[in-house]
Amino acid sequence: MKRIGILTSGGDCAGLNAAIRAVVHRAVGTYGWEVFGIRQATLGLMAQPPQAIALEIDKVDGLLVAGGTILGTTNKGDPFAFPMPDGTIRDRSEDIIAGYHQLGLDAMIGIGGDGSMAILRRLAQQGNLNLVAIPKTIDNDVGVTELSIGFDTAVSIATEALDRLHFTAASHSRVMILEVMGRDAGHIAISAGIAGGADVILVPEIPYTVERVCYTIKERQEQGKNYSLVVVSEAVRTETGVCVMSTDRLGQCRYGGIGQYLADEICTRIGAETRVTVLGHVQRGGTPSPLERVIASAFGVAAVDLIAEAQYDHMVTWQKRQVVSVPIPEAIAQYRAVNPHGTLVKTARGLGICLGDEH
Ligand code: F6P
Repeated sequence: MKRIGILTSGGDCAGLNAAIRAVVHRAVGTYGWEVFGIRQATLGLMAQPPQAIALEIDKVDGLLVAGGTILGTTNKGDPFAFPMPDGTIRDRSEDIIAGYHQLGLDAMIGIGGDGSMAILRRLAQQGNLNLVAIPKTIDNDVGVTELSIGFDTAVSIATEALDRLHFTAASHSRVMILEVMGRDAGHIAISAGIAGGADVILVPEIPYTVERVCYTIKERQEQGKNYSLVVVSEAVRTETGVCVMSTDRLGQCRYGGIGQYLADEICTRIGAETRVTVLGHVQRGGTPSPLERVIASAFGVAAVDLIAEAQYDHMVTWQKRQVVSVPIPEAIAQYRAVNPHGTLVKTARGLGICLGDEH
């Protein structure tokens, strides 16, 4: 019998609980193993005593549809340079490794994005821990997998927002700007923009001019269309390349800024009445979409199977409708941006959606 740990690391999203549920069903139900849910990512292993709960099948009842993560998570504090309460920075990696051994774990499943996974792998290498990874990020920028947990639900939420904005935009003859998440990549923007019938989609991968955006809005007005919907990814900069994301007290970049910049520019240049919606963390909360539940469940089951086969240091990925395991270093080395010549960009152009450039 094995004893395995599971943790969720980095920003939360819909589908994490569905993956935890699947891991428990497969590990406890099929293999008869013990599963420990580690609290708040590596912070739970760092704590003394380590913070973890035994997960039985009845403990994961109802989790399929629950947003967030029952284990808690954090995207703060690199354990190799951990900020201590007294203001000093310490390497806490050995504390985490000790926590893993203290729990008596044979293996650990880490659910996270590329940043979290790089840290977990480094810990695994250093401490000889048996790690298996599940990709999670609403940004969907982990290159080896077509889908990561969180993306589909985020796109659904952004699409629903566009559906709603459509009616209020038409009622008031306004230009509605929807700013969506995506720290570096524009995947949510391009997918939701197509699904939600946007007139303009701006992503960081495609340079744009405000003039071209205004031209599209004016052209629509001349055709008798009194409103326009603009989707912009938070990672888009001003047309001169300035980052206008707001900054929090810790000095970290946050979403919010580019939507208002566009609204002001459009209003100033063509006198259109504009309103901005910054969707923010709404995209990360709530009920996972059906596809999310399917992917998360498939990943959870496959991750446990990798442990059963002692195939450690691998990440489960979604490729061509099936789960494929890939060595973690290879998985995190491949970042995926929106391909400016890819299918979705071609689709958007084919639908007459303005991408802010001169095509
Ligand atoms: O990477 C996921 C993500 O949701 C990004 O889309 C967003 O920029 C960032 O995390 C927000 O992070 P936080 O929850 O720390 O504000």
